[in-house]
Amino acid sequence: MVYRLGLIGYPIEHSLSPWIHESFMNQVRVNGSYRRIEISPDTNFQDEISMLKQENLNGFNITVPYKQKILPFLDQVDPGAADIGAVNTVCVKDGEWIGYNTDGMGYLRSLVEEYPEIIKQDKVHVLLLGAGGACRGIYHAFVNAGFTNVDIANRTIEKAEEIALLQGGGTVTEVFTLEEATRLTGRYDLIIQTSSVGMKPETDTSIIPLNQIKKGAIVSDIVYQPIKTAFLQQADDLGAKLHYGHTMLLYQAQYSFEIWTGKRVPIGEMDRELKTILEG
Ligand code: ATR
Repeated sequence: MVYRLGLIGYPIEHSLSPWIHESFMNQVRVNGSYRRIEISPDTNFQDEISMLKQENLNGFNITVPYKQKILPFLDQVDPGAADIGAVNTVCVKDGEWIGYNTDGMGYLRSLVEEYPEIIKQDKVHVLLLGAGGACRGIYHAFVNAGFTNVDIANRTIEKAEEIALLQGGGTVTEVFTLEEATRLTGRYDLIIQTSSVGMKPETDTSIIPLNQIKKGAIVSDIVYQPIKTAFLQQADDLGAKLHYGHTMLLYQAQYSFEIWTGKRVPIGEMDRELKTILEG
């Protein structure tokens, strides 16, 4: 079988997904192609989707700004993606478009790969900073993985409260302002920065100042440009264990590729290779 895969979004000319998926195909000897299908926001999305349906793709990724806009065009939505309210992966099966969201699980896989102990400990206290789409996916993955304490802090507290509604029976969630969270960082075993704050060119900014952390805490940032954000630099200065954002990109792609082909490709050296690409 020859897989016809791709990515829709805008702008996507610098997307690293083609590099990642072509590398996966080479590693497990899957034949196929993965191409960028840029859809400008100035065009009629419905018309573009109708044209895409004619292309007989086997699957595709969806990125900004279409992760929610794609929903009405799907034949089925995976329950997890339905809860999250956004889709980043479509698998085409018998002509039907089935939507999934691999962002949150991809994040969790990347974390567990580096820090396997996190999943084995009882009562890991987690703080998510920011309450956009990425936070929603990550929160959902943590709740489903059985984490018992997952708090959310955001500039606009209502958005954090809305995400906390996704909570399953076994998870307790407290919601904070960023000011409150700044005073509480010492409580947490894992702090995850899920907003775009600190991304190039605003590399000097950080969502909250990190003044104190618990001994042995992991601090993570989903921003990967730069690889080491100002937030991670502060965490490093305080002696935290660090978790870098580019690994989420690799593992969400690993999970998408698995949905399309049934093959889980080991990330191995790709972590280091992607870091080198991003560092220019
Ligand atoms: P999405 O991930 O859905 O695309 P986004 O617009 O990138 O969302 O926003 C992600 C998060 O970054 C939001 O929680 C946003 O805070 P608000 O809910 O208050 O808008 C947060 N965010 C963006 N810029 C910020 C800043 N300068 N300071 C603090 N939080 C910020």
